[in-house]
Amino acid sequence: MDVKDKKAGDTIVVMTELVLPNDTNHFGNLMGGRLMYWMDIAAALSAMKHCNSPVVTASVDHISFENPIRLGNAVHLEAKVTRVFTTSMEVHVRVWGEDAVKQHRYQSNEAFFTFVALDPNGKPQPAPGLIPETPEEQERYKKALYRRQLRLMLSGKLRPEDASELKAIFAI
Ligand SMILES: CC(C)(COP(=O)(O)OP(=O)(O)OC[C@H]1O[C@@H](n2cnc3c(N)ncnc32)[C@H](O)[C@@H]1OP(=O)(O)O)[C@@H](O)C(=O)NCCC(=O)NCCS
Repeated sequence: MDVKDKKAGDTIVVMTELVLPNDTNHFGNLMGGRLMYWMDIAAALSAMKHCNSPVVTASVDHISFENPIRLGNAVHLEAKVTRVFTTSMEVHVRVWGEDAVKQHRYQSNEAFFTFVALDPNGKPQPAPGLIPETPEEQERYKKALYRRQLRLMLSGKLRPEDASELKAIFAI
């Protein structure tokens, strides 16, 4: 373990927002764009907490919206770094809605974000390593490598033939 390595549990960021009229669409539900904005902020704070430097969003993986979040409901977001590569960090964000009046909490969506740590000149710089401790953190850490290869392939930054771990899953 490198002295600079940090625990995944120490990167947790919890954020709560209230859905107000200006956040909603015609149906009184939270707009997807507003939710993605909050997710980006929670994830960026988690990445910055880990690397203690400014970060930029490099990419966002697939996001689907399971349940709409209603006007007047609370939005709970929890972000945590899942793996560090060199200068980039994968961050998982999970979102729940909560109707405090009916005392009902429901899952909304989740996504993986990738952030890059920047030096004072705005250039990518290495981030500290990450120590996954719980079984869930270890599982996410392991699978982060496949997700990285897939997203780099989709963004044209990795040739399919170079995605060795991903290819191995499908090998007979
Ligand atoms: C993200 C960014 C810093 C990468 O810069 P770059 O010149 O491509 O740098 P590199 O090729 O050295 O890549 C740096 C890291 O970013 C990762 N990266 C680059 N593009 C990526 C993508 N589309 N998805 C995930 N990771 C990506 C690389 O894998 C590398 O990670 P590693 O060091 O852990 O291996 C640069 O493209 C950028 O500034 N983009 C704009 C970011 C921005 O403005 N976001 C805000 C909202 S749109």
